Amino acid sequence: MIVCVCNNVSEKKIHQAVAMGVSTMAELREQLDVGTCCGKCAGCARKIMRQCMDEQSSNASGFQNFIQQLHFQPNAVTA
Ligand code: FES
Repeated sequence: MIVCVCNNVSEKKIHQAVAMGVSTMAELREQLDVGTCCGKCAGCARKIMRQCMDEQSSNASGFQNFIQQLHFQPNAVTA
């Protein structure tokens, strides 16, 4: 889905930018030029960026929980 029509920025590009470490609207603007023309996309772009960050955070904590379970339950994994 195109989020920023003026600069042809898709939702996928925002996901990729967040995966590369973008975490603020200023960084997103700098990286993708999103919201730098008419500005109508800024709210939507911010929402998508935050959703991506939340997903990354929950994925990371899920992985950490998995590692902790392996660490604290050494018999859980048998060779
Ligand atoms: S739609 Fe993004 S700046 Fe216009």
